[in-house]
Amino acid sequence: MTRKWWHDVVVYQIYPRSFMDSNGDGVGDLKGIISKLDYLKDLGIGAIWLSPINKSPNVDNGYDISDYYDIMDDFGTISDMRTLVDEMHSRNIKLIMDLVLNHTSDEHYWFKEAKKGRNNKYRDYYIWRDKPNEIESNFGGSAWEYDKYSNQYYFHLHDKRQPDLNWENPLLRKDIEKMINFWLDFGVDGFRFDVIDLIGKEVDNLITKNGPKLHEYLQELNRNTFGKRDVLTVGETWGATPEIAMLYSNPNRNELNMVFQFEVISLDKKEGGHKWDLAPLDFMKFKKSFSKWQTCLYGKGWNSIFGNNHDLPRMVSRWGNDKEYRVESAKMLATMLHMQMGTPYIYQGEEIGMTNVKFDSIDDYNDIECLTMYKERMQQGYNIEEIMNSIYVKGRDNARTPMQWSSGKNASFTEGIPWLKINENYKEINVEQALNDKDSIYYYYKDLINLRKKYDAIKYGEFKLILEENKEVFAYTRTYKNEQLLVICNFYEDTTEIIVPREFLGKDYSILISNYKEKTSLEEKIKLRPYESIVYKL
Ligand code: NOJ
Repeated sequence: MTRKWWHDVVVYQIYPRSFMDSNGDGVGDLKGIISKLDYLKDLGIGAIWLSPINKSPNVDNGYDISDYYDIMDDFGTISDMRTLVDEMHSRNIKLIMDLVLNHTSDEHYWFKEAKKGRNNKYRDYYIWRDKPNEIESNFGGSAWEYDKYSNQYYFHLHDKRQPDLNWENPLLRKDIEKMINFWLDFGVDGFRFDVIDLIGKEVDNLITKNGPKLHEYLQELNRNTFGKRDVLTVGETWGATPEIAMLYSNPNRNELNMVFQFEVISLDKKEGGHKWDLAPLDFMKFKKSFSKWQTCLYGKGWNSIFGNNHDLPRMVSRWGNDKEYRVESAKMLATMLHMQMGTPYIYQGEEIGMTNVKFDSIDDYNDIECLTMYKERMQQGYNIEEIMNSIYVKGRDNARTPMQWSSGKNASFTEGIPWLKINENYKEINVEQALNDKDSIYYYYKDLINLRKKYDAIKYGEFKLILEENKEVFAYTRTYKNEQLLVICNFYEDTTEIIVPREFLGKDYSILISNYKEKTSLEEKIKLRPYESIVYKL
């Protein structure tokens, strides 16, 4: 496999609204990010994925862009963006920009023009029909909105203020290319493409994800924009199977470098239900899913590895134990992910083990998706406790509460009133505390990041699931030439015993990392403590 810079780099995702506020207006901004670059450099990350910073009325916190060439007022100016990119580059940190190409804001010039009438030059940049069909929006309700003026409906797979772009229109595609080239010339080092698997939709055939022309559009985009540069491209693809992911990420097809796939993320919901219809995690499926992705793409594509992002609940609350074993389980989950093949993504606050939040009132929530669901389910007669519980478990604001920098006022996120309440556990869980404790989750992540740089087995080793039928332990090997790693993670709070397969015994070994001070030696029978994880190098 040709070596690429993103093979040993860990990416750190910043949700700018919640990261660091520099001017006391309660909203994070670009200058705030600049002030924390040394912190990120010390952590060891090699790139930052910045959630959208373009101009936006913030219906969906920036995922509704009204001007692709400008910066959101809350976040600063294009000159702040220049400084940010330069400051990052001087620290050898690359910038991955988040681009929303499936839809714009209804305040985008194109849409404002399109609304002027059927003959407008930009009408066909969006999708209009005389009659709606049964396609539903991902945020709930019909995907069609009636426009009185032209007596037609326009299509939106998210909020009605996020109209979908019509990728069948070559003029639209040219304008998108122009904009991407503008940002490449500006100096960005890559893109995360929001819900990219939706751009090939054929609404009349009821096709939204993975439309017939999706890959053709991506190849065209690649050819005319980023394909000529050494940049990282990652697509958000909720509908990807490993076979589909290979289409995107096979280097010979000239599309993207990798995708975010959500198979594992979707396991704790009722079959056929919505994400809000909760079900316990099926651990056996969880292990098998990771293993499938690791093995299918080996040598044929590239994975992205993550358990958190701005749309997901906090991993330590979801899959770990955010009470008595918060530190152990956060480290175990990080080990389980970071020893896999692919590019790992850390979401802000994950490196200090930030947890989910529980606000008493729906009025304290901001996220459009959760507010829409609340309204809809209240009307449908759901029980309010059930609704609130699903928000506590799955709501996107779990990830969006401000970054906890210290135990001081507003967790030192802002001098003003934070746009979203801070998780009240900031007094115990914060960066200052983590930096002062050499056994903190933060230093553990730092070690994991360094290990990836050092060992080819972590970057390129073949993955093999072992102890497949074990219902408590996630264990696998990574093998590259004569380097072999044995990764063992106890996923639960009970102590458990495993029998180590013979092939790993009787050899010289060292321990690369472990989340308990007293190290467990590699023997035929190993007793694993709660959430214990350990990586042996054989
Ligand atoms: C996926 C983004 O990650 C999410 O935050 C957003 O709401 C939707 N796409 C719509 O852009």
